[in-house]
Amino acid sequence: MTTRRDFVRTTAAAAGALTLACGGTGEDDASSDGGPLSILILGGTGFIGPHEVEYAQTRGHSLTLFNRGQTNPGLFPGIEQLRGDRGGDLAALEGREWDVVIDNSGFYPRHARLSAQLLEGQVDRYMFVSSISAYDDSLPAGIDEYNAPIASMEDPTDETESPYGPSYGPRKALCEAEVLDAFGEDRTIIVRPGLITGPGDPTDRIRHWIARLTLHDEVLVPGYAGDPVQMIDARDMTGWMVRMLENGDVGTYNAVGPDYQMTMDELVNGVHGVTSSEAELVWVSDEFAAEKQIAGRYSPWIPGAGPRGFMLVNNGRALGTGLTFRSLDEILTDMLAEYEEQVVEDPDFGTRGGAPFDQEAALIAEWRARNA
Ligand SMILES: NC(=O)c1ccc[n+]([C@@H]2O[C@H](COP(=O)([O-])OP(=O)(O)OC[C@H]3O[C@@H](n4cnc5c(N)ncnc54)[C@H](OP(=O)(O)O)[C@@H]3O)[C@@H](O)[C@H]2O)c1
Repeated sequence: MTTRRDFVRTTAAAAGALTLACGGTGEDDASSDGGPLSILILGGTGFIGPHEVEYAQTRGHSLTLFNRGQTNPGLFPGIEQLRGDRGGDLAALEGREWDVVIDNSGFYPRHARLSAQLLEGQVDRYMFVSSISAYDDSLPAGIDEYNAPIASMEDPTDETESPYGPSYGPRKALCEAEVLDAFGEDRTIIVRPGLITGPGDPTDRIRHWIARLTLHDEVLVPGYAGDPVQMIDARDMTGWMVRMLENGDVGTYNAVGPDYQMTMDELVNGVHGVTSSEAELVWVSDEFAAEKQIAGRYSPWIPGAGPRGFMLVNNGRALGTGLTFRSLDEILTDMLAEYEEQVVEDPDFGTRGGAPFDQEAALIAEWRARNA
């Protein structure tokens, strides 16, 4: 009998090539042979992991999660959870087989090497969640996955930094190389997301706009209305990832949204509308934001002199494999609902972004005084 694993193993390369050549499949398409997949998730209990789990369950797939049991340990009691550590304790994975693995928790090249080498004989395809930070800071606008400059670092063995430390990007690039080395191009999927947001986002990188426009009468906005912005809702990204697994896709994909050039003006006015805010937006120049050392705090905005290529990333390959986007309005409406629920328990919810909350009025007053 040809099992799902046999099928995927023998057709992965062909199916991947076909999908890339012919364009992709959309949300409503069934998986390539209709059968459920057995999916191992390295991680699964943080931000994007639960979205992967929930979507995969709706598609009928079986799931196993591997993690240390530290993050949201009570989540998903009905799903098999294997305990271990990417740093060296992978014993719980030995002797098991899955159709595919989604690696959400690879931050160090050695960790990626250990899991990829172990799983190479036990799993058909390896999906590694990387980042657009794997590109070099010199990233030009609009360059595709296979022609962009890749980040590098001096000592790839250095594991002293925290996962999201300064060499996060180069380490992601090295992790990708480790997975490709073990699984080869015809059995590897690399997903390079930009800023991921939506309900459950543990950061305030988008939510600070909701908090600001809800709580303040005047809101500082740096830069220019037309400055480019990219972000992706975790639900859109993880649904597409699962469908790529179903379709037998392989290759490297930028996971950024939306499918048109979004601007700061659209984002900020979108929040303004969804929150029914009456706050006045006060646009200040790049130079003022830089002088006041707040430029880097106004996510997702990248100052004019910054690596603007990171907000102009080409997502054509992902669109060709069925990445779709819900509207900005839907994302913001759902995030507002989460904000309104959480802020009752935590008054600081949403305030960890942008200028320090208590300094915004003074900064606006200074800007106005200078430009009177
Ligand atoms: N958020 C963004 O904007 C963004 C952008 C680009 C790329 N990404 C990438 O997206 C990925 C998703 O992160 P996420 O937090 O949402 O994923 P997740 O799967 O929801 O959560 C991370 C998981 O990894 C586990 N884990 C962490 N360290 C571990 C270790 N040493 N050994 C075993 N398990 C470990 C955690 O559980 P335990 O703590 O219990 O072990 C947790 O289940 C990351 O690779 C990140 O680089 C994120």
